[in-house]
Amino acid sequence: MDYLVNLSLLSPDPELDARIQGAAVTIRRALAPELELVTRWVRQTFNAGWSSETTVAFSRQPTSCFMATRDGGLVGFAVYDSIARGFFGPTGVDEAARGAGIGHALLLATLLDMRVMGYGYAIIGDVGPSEFYERTVGATQIPDSEPGVYAGLLNTHP
Ligand SMILES: CC(C)(COP(=O)(O)OP(=O)(O)OC[C@H]1O[C@@H](n2cnc3c(N)ncnc32)[C@H](O)[C@@H]1OP(=O)(O)O)[C@@H](O)C(=O)NCCC(=O)NCCS
Repeated sequence: MDYLVNLSLLSPDPELDARIQGAAVTIRRALAPELELVTRWVRQTFNAGWSSETTVAFSRQPTSCFMATRDGGLVGFAVYDSIARGFFGPTGVDEAARGAGIGHALLLATLLDMRVMGYGYAIIGDVGPSEFYERTVGATQIPDSEPGVYAGLLNTHP
């Protein structure tokens, strides 16, 4: 199922920002020189498909990839406009860093950037943790959204 987020209803969240700052985490747009490091981390931490989607996000100028860093290392990432225009994702946070608001902060930073870039709505494709998106940004299910853009992807391990 795909989910929809009304970007007009979003606003910055100073409390979340303070929480992230308190955890010594920085959320920012990824820069071109970081492509190799970020895509390798996504492949090793998640999978090759997400790493490929991240590469496409790096092909945009400015990049449509945001990342969370701590102590000079990556702890999370989020991209948009990769599998299709107007689509958010994939996103992921290092397992050891989950539950601290980093996924929420990455999602919000990315969606607010989509709004600046001119989108009114964001689509979250083929949602896994729907509760995460419902709770953090009020995402709602899109009826008849299956099969979506991810349907029939080449699978090298059938
Ligand atoms: C989904 C993910 C990015 C969330 O990151 P996180 O840093 O742990 O999330 P946060 O700490 O910001 O959580 C924000 C809120 O969402 C909730 N939440 C987080 N992950 C959730 C999940 N998998 N299911 C339901 N609720 C979830 C949290 O409880 C929290 O709610 P609260 O503020 O009421 O306490 C992370 O679990 C992850 O990397 N999962 C594996 C990759 C994945 O599934 N990506 C999404 C692909 S569509």
